[in-house]
Amino acid sequence: MDIAPGAPSMPTGNLRLVPVHDASPDREQQWWRSSVIYQIYPRSFRDLRGDGIGDLPGITAEIPTLAELDIDAIWLSPFYVSPQKDAGYDVADYCDVDPLFGTLEDFDNLVATAKNHGIRVIVDLVPNHCSDQHALFQAALTAPENSPARDMFIFRDGTGENGENPPNNWQSHFGGPAWTRTTNPDGTPGQWYLHLFDSSQPDFNWDNPAVHDEFERILRFWLDRGVGGFRVDVAHALIKKSGLPDWGGRADGASTEGFPGDQAPMFGQAGIHDIYRSWRKILDDYDGDRVLCAEATIDPLDRLTDWVRNDEMHQTFNFAYLHHPWNPHELRRIITTSLEAFDKVGAPTTWVLSNHDVVRHVSRFGQAEGHTRPGDGLGPEDFQPDHELGLRRARAATVLMLALPGGVYLYQGEELGLPDHTMIPHEFRQDPTFHRTDGVRVGRDGSRVPLPWVADAPSYGFSSTGKSWLPQPGLWGTHSRDIQQRNPDSTLSLYRKALKLRRELNLGHGSLAWWPEKDSEGAVAFVNGNVLAVMNMGTEPVELPEFEILCQSSPGAMAHTRLRPNRTVWMRIP
Ligand code: NOJ
Repeated sequence: MDIAPGAPSMPTGNLRLVPVHDASPDREQQWWRSSVIYQIYPRSFRDLRGDGIGDLPGITAEIPTLAELDIDAIWLSPFYVSPQKDAGYDVADYCDVDPLFGTLEDFDNLVATAKNHGIRVIVDLVPNHCSDQHALFQAALTAPENSPARDMFIFRDGTGENGENPPNNWQSHFGGPAWTRTTNPDGTPGQWYLHLFDSSQPDFNWDNPAVHDEFERILRFWLDRGVGGFRVDVAHALIKKSGLPDWGGRADGASTEGFPGDQAPMFGQAGIHDIYRSWRKILDDYDGDRVLCAEATIDPLDRLTDWVRNDEMHQTFNFAYLHHPWNPHELRRIITTSLEAFDKVGAPTTWVLSNHDVVRHVSRFGQAEGHTRPGDGLGPEDFQPDHELGLRRARAATVLMLALPGGVYLYQGEELGLPDHTMIPHEFRQDPTFHRTDGVRVGRDGSRVPLPWVADAPSYGFSSTGKSWLPQPGLWGTHSRDIQQRNPDSTLSLYRKALKLRRELNLGHGSLAWWPEKDSEGAVAFVNGNVLAVMNMGTEPVELPEFEILCQSSPGAMAHTRLRPNRTVWMRIP
């Protein structure tokens, strides 16, 4: 099997195990080493004010509901002042709440309510770029070339005889060139500015100390308001290679033939780590063990761990895990390499299956082989996923994930087993990816659809007026929280049970040893403490020992002593 060469084989009871990761009881005080963090996408969570867009009071009202999931923290995607060209990841004022979502007072209420329920509030910090409506960028546009105001961003002269071509060949993540030309006050064409994302999201110039000062001020502003930490957006992109050399590889830096990701001139530059070291010092000056989590899509894994050395960030997302296919060999490989890599720097590994940028795991795991669509999003023209199969597999994948040692991220709605809305009519699409690629990439709206709370209410109880900024699919009713609350076999009941057990059994701080005996049958099987977790990714039932069953991903997952395909079970090792 795919275990690191040389790892000793260790008998436990009558199971022959191969250890990969040890528990570290001395670190159990650090909550973020085993945390369960629930991502809230505010515009789609709960709308109390009735305009069809979720808001902060809506989140506050549901804190007791979230507390039932036994989570440690919520992470809020951006709610700052923003023209919403990229759903708030285009920030016009980092220190205020957009009226769409409420006020600073609403935010303070949310933090206080969450605290009363033992839940920390982590906010999203977007330091790579802001909105073109931000006062600093507006000032830069009207300032002369080479002025301090322009130096807050990355302005360059164009190439070609009259500067009519962009300064280099970089492409935007959302499609099209990563440069936009400005117009001078007298109407003549001016310099170009860099935007790795939408043209409305100019990149800051992190070679300028004034940018560092500005973000340290922003960090303190939110730390003073009691946040538990920050999820740092595109954390690997802040510093660009000097001279901004051309790059023929992918815009997101993923390795391709001839263009290894570690050579991408806009990602993973050495100087970036000094920024996070200085932020870590700021956080450490505050009480309460506040955290930084990097959104860094860095490949390979052993470079990603540079973001979580002990004087940098606390956690980073594990995108290799997020993208694991329905393949036991590949899944075991990713878990092993993740734990080994993060152990080397003494950081926890994190695990995640869904977020607001990818197709939800119910839909991903329901896609037929040969019909997966590259890029983000599934649309009406795509081969549609089998959502029944997808849900069975998604529940299995979640139960397996919740047995892993380390931190876990959940995305709102996965506890309801929501699939992506793959049939959104194109006229409703808001993701800039769709518009910048003329629909070639359908975009991420399908995973961002407002949540169903009540089966029998307009907009399924999402909004007090029945409005919804994106259309919800017809099948949302069966997924509604009120129905699932009453059903002991629902996905919601499964999440509650597994999360509670995870805490009681201390799995987050636990260990991992593979039980390779069932590999050839398509199973992924490991032991954490005295729990045996087995997921059957194969096509035939897998015979298991007659241990006490602690949790199973679907009712009847175990047929006598056999685990049926596409299911996971936790058993207590006697
Ligand atoms: C990553 C965020 O998760 C995504 O939603 C956003 O579009 C980009 N960063 C740009 O901020």
